[in-house]
Order: sequence, then structure tokens, then C-alpha cells
Amino acid sequence: MRDLTEANVTDAVLNTIADDTNPRLKEIMEALIRHSHDFVREVNLTPDELLYAARFIQNVGHISDDKREEGVLLGDVLGLTALVEILGDRVRVGATESSLLGPFYREGAPTRDMGDDISLNDDEGEPAFIHGTVTDANGNPIEGVVLDLWQTSPNMFYEAQVGQPKDYDDYAYRAKFRTGADGKYWFRSRKPVDYPVPTDGPVGLILNGTGRHSWRPAHLHYLIYKDGYQTIQTELFNSDSKYLDSDAVFGVKETLIIPYEQVDDAARAEEYGFPTSTFYEGTYDFVMKDDASVKDAEAAYSQRASMSAA
Ligand code: BEZ
Ligand code: FE
Repeated sequence: MRDLTEANVTDAVLNTIADDTNPRLKEIMEALIRHSHDFVREVNLTPDELLYAARFIQNVGHISDDKREEGVLLGDVLGLTALVEILGDRVRVGATESSLLGPFYREGAPTRDMGDDISLNDDEGEPAFIHGTVTDANGNPIEGVVLDLWQTSPNMFYEAQVGQPKDYDDYAYRAKFRTGADGKYWFRSRKPVDYPVPTDGPVGLILNGTGRHSWRPAHLHYLIYKDGYQTIQTELFNSDSKYLDSDAVFGVKETLIIPYEQVDDAARAEEYGFPTSTFYEGTYDFVMKDDASVKDAEAAYSQRASMSAA
């Protein structure tokens, strides 16, 4: 019989992993066991606390459904999602930086015409005209790129979120646009607003219990893709948000902050169909890396990593 002690229990668990286990699964499980055992030792975890953690995880599952992924939110507030994206960006240097997908992306947004109002003529919020170009790393415009984008309405909810005060049309504040030969995109919307992540589930206990707020700085989400290029999953943040330095889910990067300039121009407002002469204008150019250049970077990166581990 094994005489388990603090000194050998970690090895006892590690030794249960079969040699022919999938190598990546083996790597992940071994690290998980080592780090979680060290964590228990470091904080001297009590049986009650371990049971609390187990029930916490159960509750994360119970509150989740096809419209709410509390497990994703947990990774987000712990900064795990942000870290994974920062690591992923190491092989895409030169491309637009990544940021969180978040739980509110919906597939199937309608393709709209350039210039359309993605708010579907919402009578609330500050009119905004948003435009830019999608280029490759050499500055050449890319044709046929899909920009799949989504944001909250001015009432701080995504259109499909439950419990919101207003009944929006399906896919309001969501759209796909496809670039032409000039790589340009342009559309109308409402200036994004700050909003809080949901705190009525177990993740809210972490935020409340550790004195954290739940706000995200105003942003617009983008998934930008075309065959042969690395998909850009990112967010653009309003430069005037007061939460840029304290995003509840750590998504902000300096290069993803854009000003929304106030424009007072009756002719342009009329051209865009805005009801008053003033509107906000946001501009951003996206840079995509082609798959081949990223494959080279990945190979160079893993070669460097294995040399420094040796
Ligand atoms: C979002 O930006 O949609 C989001 C991201 C992480 C957690 C909650 C919301
Ligand atoms: Fe969001």
C-alpha cells in the first residue's frame, strides 16, 4: 500500500497518467496537477474551501445555457482569455492585435450594404459614422474580406440578451460587410457605450467579493476573415471611456483605442441620413497577415522555444 504524504502525493497522481496518452493532453494534465497541488500548498486550502470551489464550479454550469457562458466569463475576469490571446498574437506581429470574443457573438448576422445603419434606425444614442480600410502587412488593400461586427445598443445590452428594457429587431447592432477592391468599409451606427458584464451569477461573487467593478469600456467587436489570411478577432475601444484602465475582462490594448471625433457638417450628415448636422466619426484601418507568413513565424517561434528549453 502507498503511504501518501505531502511530499509524494503529487508524484502519485502524475504517475497515473499512461505513457501512451496523447502528448498534448499529457503535457496539459501534468502541468495542471503540478500547479494545482502547489496552489493548495501555497494557500493551505481547507476541506471546506475545496468543497466551496467544487460547488462554485457546479453553479457556473447551472447558470450557463446557449445564451450565457459563465465558464467563458470566469476565464475572462481571471485574465486567462486575455493571456491566451496575448500569447497567440506573438506569431502575428504586424497584424491588428487581438482582443476578447466575449459571450455575445452570434453567427448568422445579415450581410448589409456599405453605409447601412446597423442600429436599424434606433431612435436612441449618438449617431456615429465608422470607416477604414483592410490591408495586408505591405499596406495593399484586400478585397473580399468579411467584417462581422457587433456592439451593444445605447441601453447597454446586446440585442439578444435576456432582460433588457427594449425590444430590438433580431440582429440589430450586428452586421457583416464585405470589402471591395479598395479594401474600404464604412457604416453607420450609434457611438458604443460602457456597459457592465453580468454579475448575477457565480462570477459576480468574485467581482463583488474582491472589490472589483464589472464595467467594460465602450467598444465595438470585430471578426474579420478571408481565406488565406489569419482571422482578426478584436475590439475597438472608445478613447473617452473612463474604464480603459480597468476593463473588467482585460481586453484593452493601446493600439485598439480610437477617438470618436464630433463632426458638425450638415451636408455630410444629410448624405449619411443622420437627423441632425452633428455626428461622431470613428476611423480604423485593419491589417491582416497571410497564413503562410504566420506559419513561418510559428515554426521560428517553436524552434526558439525548444532551443531555450534545452
Ligand atoms: C463582451 O465584450 O461582449 C464581453 C466580454 C467578456 C465578458 C463579457 C462580455
Ligand atoms: Fe462586448
